[in-house]
Amino acid sequence: MKFTYDFLSLPVDEVNLISTVAKLDRDEMLYFWSEDAWQDFCRYGRQEGMIGLIKKNEEVVGFGLWHIIDERRSELLKIAVKTCYRGHEVALGFWLAAVLELKKLQVHSCVLEVDATNLRALAFYRKVGFTTLATRKSFYSNGRDAISLICEI
Ligand SMILES: CC(C)(COP(=O)(O)OP(=O)(O)OC[C@H]1O[C@@H](n2cnc3c(N)ncnc32)[C@H](O)[C@@H]1OP(=O)(O)O)[C@@H](O)C(=O)NCCC(=O)NCCS
Repeated sequence: MKFTYDFLSLPVDEVNLISTVAKLDRDEMLYFWSEDAWQDFCRYGRQEGMIGLIKKNEEVVGFGLWHIIDERRSELLKIAVKTCYRGHEVALGFWLAAVLELKKLQVHSCVLEVDATNLRALAFYRKVGFTTLATRKSFYSNGRDAISLICEI
């Protein structure tokens, strides 16, 4: 399967594109943002950020969203691959491409929080080099714990 990646620095003024990603977020993520939250963050947000798209032909089949905290640090806010494409190293290829983009921005580390029960995502993060920083008790609104991870890139 052939996938291509696009990386855009925020803000992006493409309502339809953001809508497409917001829909994927809703469909694929346990904790998702509203369409308004996506539009606010990507179009009007004051924080620096990067959105990455995974495409198969012209269809967006996955995405990643990073907050660029400062000139060295980033936070991965979201990453997802459409269910039917999971388990084929799609996220792995995307992550490697994203690291190159982050390095261009002089970013040298990435942190994130993941639901402690999301074993698939945890396995993925560990595979690409993330290590545990801390466990955050009852981090999510449903009472579940989060694990904070960090990766030097
Ligand atoms: C996490 C996610 C992005 C991984 O995407 P993916 O394309 O399936 O991952 P890859 O195929 O690149 O797999 C890379 C590694 O992830 C892990 N992984 C993949 N599928 C797995 C499965 N079914 N069970 C456990 N681990 C799995 C493995 O470590 C795998 O490496 P390996 O095949 O050498 O063992 C994807 O599962 C997803 O979109 N999940 C839903 C959204 C989500 O939870 N995002 C993270 C929120 S913090």
